[in-house]
Amino acid sequence: MRTNYCGDLRAEHIDKTVTLFGWVDRRRDHGGVIFIDLRDRTGTVQIVSDPQRTPDSYNDAEALRSEYVVKIIGKVSQRPEESLNPKLPTGEVEIYADSIELLNNVSKQLPFQVCTSEYESVREDLRLKYRYLDLRSDRMAQNLQLRHQVVKAMRRFLEDEENFLEIETPILTRSTPEGARDYLVPSRVNPGDWYALPQSPQLFKQLLMISGCDRYYQIARCFRDEDLRADRQPEFTQLDMEMSFMSVEEIIELNEALICQILKTVKGIDLPRPFPRLTYAEAMARYGSDRPDTRFGLELVDVSEIVKDSGFKVFSGAVASGGTVKVLPIPGGNETISNVRIKPKGDIFNEAIAAGAKGIAYIRVRENNEIDTIGAIKDNLSEAQKQELLEKTGAKPGHLLLFGAGDTNTVNKTLDRVRLFMGKELGLIDNNQLNLIWITEFPMFEWNADEKRLEALHHPFTAPYPEDLDDLATARAQAYDLVYNGVEIGGGSLRIYQQDIQERVFATIGLSEEEAKEKFGFLLEAFEYGTPPHGGIAYGLDRLVMLLAQEESIRDVIAFPKTQQASCLLTEAPARVDNKQLQELQVKSTYKPKK
Ligand code: AMO
Repeated sequence: MRTNYCGDLRAEHIDKTVTLFGWVDRRRDHGGVIFIDLRDRTGTVQIVSDPQRTPDSYNDAEALRSEYVVKIIGKVSQRPEESLNPKLPTGEVEIYADSIELLNNVSKQLPFQVCTSEYESVREDLRLKYRYLDLRSDRMAQNLQLRHQVVKAMRRFLEDEENFLEIETPILTRSTPEGARDYLVPSRVNPGDWYALPQSPQLFKQLLMISGCDRYYQIARCFRDEDLRADRQPEFTQLDMEMSFMSVEEIIELNEALICQILKTVKGIDLPRPFPRLTYAEAMARYGSDRPDTRFGLELVDVSEIVKDSGFKVFSGAVASGGTVKVLPIPGGNETISNVRIKPKGDIFNEAIAAGAKGIAYIRVRENNEIDTIGAIKDNLSEAQKQELLEKTGAKPGHLLLFGAGDTNTVNKTLDRVRLFMGKELGLIDNNQLNLIWITEFPMFEWNADEKRLEALHHPFTAPYPEDLDDLATARAQAYDLVYNGVEIGGGSLRIYQQDIQERVFATIGLSEEEAKEKFGFLLEAFEYGTPPHGGIAYGLDRLVMLLAQEESIRDVIAFPKTQQASCLLTEAPARVDNKQLQELQVKSTYKPKK
């Protein structure tokens, strides 16, 4: 029987005889004395064998190699002064091995060394192909355990303190309204019909409120066929919640308590409450984004009013056609940022282009508030306009003012991207800071330029503010997102529970009664049988754990993630299937491989 895990051994275990199981992280031969770092999921501990003190284990120790699986029995000892390792939690002790039993060896060449010192340089595709080895690494083992701790803290809070019921909802279901592309599964018994994998449990959790469940949660797997990024996977996990008879304020309060409990449990951090809030309008105005990273300043300033009559056509033209001119002021930027970087092919220019802008204009503020620009800006600003610009943007000598001009969406997107780029580059972001902020009062709808219609910004069951009902198209939604250091980790809303409002929302997004019935008829019918006021929220578990683990990608906190091409390098999914399977399903592929 195992007596201890490797990573748990401390000075208090000295003189105890322990039985350990694990993998050989590294084996070093120091002139007749053999040191083995033995690893299990909790960490590593140093094992020692030499011919004098432990003659019975010496030959076995000599034969060990990296990743061999062993059972070791030995006595915990104090390490001599010169070999104490304060960087290792077990660095005060070592174990003299009385016996080493080889349980299994490694019969192939290892694709990479798992041991910590060499692991960091291993390519990600190799790590994903041999994920089971990768997960042995200290980093991955800790990430998986952190993820487990986070889920455990969620369950404890929701179940033990807040009376939530955990209820599972179907995976084989109909299309759900989150707006991404569906993953489809053909039905064999109903040829020609398809299941959709859920993009979220949204419809079912609302049905559960109608059922009287009152408080539901689920650690729910969701599937969305969308373009992948570091914080997006085709299948990901939500903490999904829905509650009846609660106001926005009550939901936010309960959720702050939940997040605080998670942070306290897994990180020992006491977060101040209440969390700050910004309305969507404020967030867009000041940061150009509905998920601002508020760990640093560099706030945007709208100068449309000042430059709308200027002779500089890029500015006046943008405002005249209903757009905006905004400034990203960078203190000290005049010194540190050269023209080359802002002009075509420069890195700042490229960031702006990648966000959809045609370019980026700038003004340098010199001594005595003299301004300097390339091109025509300076000559086309009146003295009064220049003064107003400096005043409104708070610019002082040494400032660089970067301008976005054009349609408001693109300007915001551009300056948001450039702001984050500059924030990182100028070292303005403190990685130990943890900023959680609610974004509230989202618009109900946004314009879909391709389809030339309004569409629901969240989903069409989101409730508008009652005072905005007169003009639904511009109404604010009773919706809230939680943003953590610039990453949207959760979002939710109060739902519509009155039929007439639901019908008006469908009409606003151009969904006819028939279409609505066809898509969500079962839910609309359920609404007619006594629906309580209700609302909820869902968190991206992967994103939350990624941030807590200070990782850059959610792939690093998911045991078996997909690549950016949505494939699994380990199992080689997705893969072809037999023609026989397709025939049974009455499905035929139209795919023709390119020659
Ligand atoms: P939403 O679509 O905002 O809301 O999703 C909730 C949270 O899930 C995370 N998320 C993702 N994480 C990883 N990969 C993805 N592809 C991905 N997509 C979303 C985000 C996001 O904040 N049903 C509503 C919730 C509700 O209204 O209650 C919903 O799914 O962190």
